[in-house]
Amino acid sequence: LENGTARTPPMGWNSWNSFGCNINEGLIRQTADAMVSNGMRDLGYQYVVVDDCWFNPNRDSSGNLQGDPTRFPSGMKALGDYLHARGLKFGLYQVPVDKTCAQYFNSYPGATGSQGHEAQDARQFAAWGVDYLKYDWCSPNGSINDQVTTFAKMRDALAATGRPILYSINPNSIHAKTGPQRNWGDVANIWRTTEDITNAWDTGQTNGYPMGIQNIINVTVPLASYARPGSFTDPDMMEVGRGGMNDTEMRSHFAMWAVMASPLIAGNDVRNMNAATQTILKNANLIAINQDSLGLQGSQVSFDGTRRVLAKRLANGDVAVALLNQGASTTTISTTAAAVGKSGSSFTLVDAWSNAATTSTGSISASVPAHGTVVYRVSGGGTSTPPPTTPPPATTSFA
Ligand code: DGJ
Repeated sequence: LENGTARTPPMGWNSWNSFGCNINEGLIRQTADAMVSNGMRDLGYQYVVVDDCWFNPNRDSSGNLQGDPTRFPSGMKALGDYLHARGLKFGLYQVPVDKTCAQYFNSYPGATGSQGHEAQDARQFAAWGVDYLKYDWCSPNGSINDQVTTFAKMRDALAATGRPILYSINPNSIHAKTGPQRNWGDVANIWRTTEDITNAWDTGQTNGYPMGIQNIINVTVPLASYARPGSFTDPDMMEVGRGGMNDTEMRSHFAMWAVMASPLIAGNDVRNMNAATQTILKNANLIAINQDSLGLQGSQVSFDGTRRVLAKRLANGDVAVALLNQGASTTTISTTAAAVGKSGSSFTLVDAWSNAATTSTGSISASVPAHGTVVYRVSGGGTSTPPPTTPPPATTSFA
């Protein structure tokens, strides 16, 4: 979506994975302060997104949305000001239907969705200084065509405010599987590709609720051709640092989100991070690969059911290569410079985790532990053609 935002995948933090409805302005402010003091902001994590349950269950007498009076007593404008004063950006959650997910599924009070209030709510968000809207389809009703119409209505309402607001949509809450089947780049800046992520490498769900990291990768990799500056696929907020995976798996999760040009939205409690989590989220090599100005999603070079190779062409001619082991034991994963779109006879491979540089005459290979990902930045020679792009899946119609 060409609205001036998301020229590269958005980076930031979202309240949902760690806190659900248990949010308040103190938590958001502490999180913002932590992102400044721990260096995340300066590495690019700028959006602070307040997810479901921030609102007063009643609109005011003019029909305007309001923040929850107990948990956000200073109001949403003051929260936006707090974030902006620290060089951060303000994200907020809303739904295109009548009830938010918490209202629909968890008997949270109210019916404060934007249905029928699109223009008014968009103006309210702009007046509060909102920079990012997460708009979440929480209804068992509607067809994919209804979703297109309804999501487009808020796209247009946001544009009419004149404020650049990054538009993040989730078409999948009920219509699991619709997101992967449509390129939503005409409607939104980022769009969810699967049902909700969970804090595990594998849940066994291939595209249902809740999704583990591995199956989100399986669903999102084939959508590589959809990504471009302004429009990126969204495999959901990260579960790095949430305790459900070992360090190898967390590194893979982050490395794959980086190479898939996915939004890097931390979902952990960034006020309390151990050293391993900080090392992962603050890996500048992977952040640079993710934030590369070409905005390409790493495309699949090969996959044998266990060993997956992705290549992401970068603006300076380098190619980032991810070697992911989806199997249960250590294995060697190999590709070649030619296969990832490089020409020439001598290359430098920099390991994104260790920074170790090696030279190669064309072979790109590593021993990769179970569920691990090795990422090399490959430089030298020429960059001939873009690496092969996996065609998107056939569009399916939904009732
Ligand atoms: C469903 C979304 O997928 C989640 O990310 C979160 O926003 C919840 N809704 C909030 O209710």
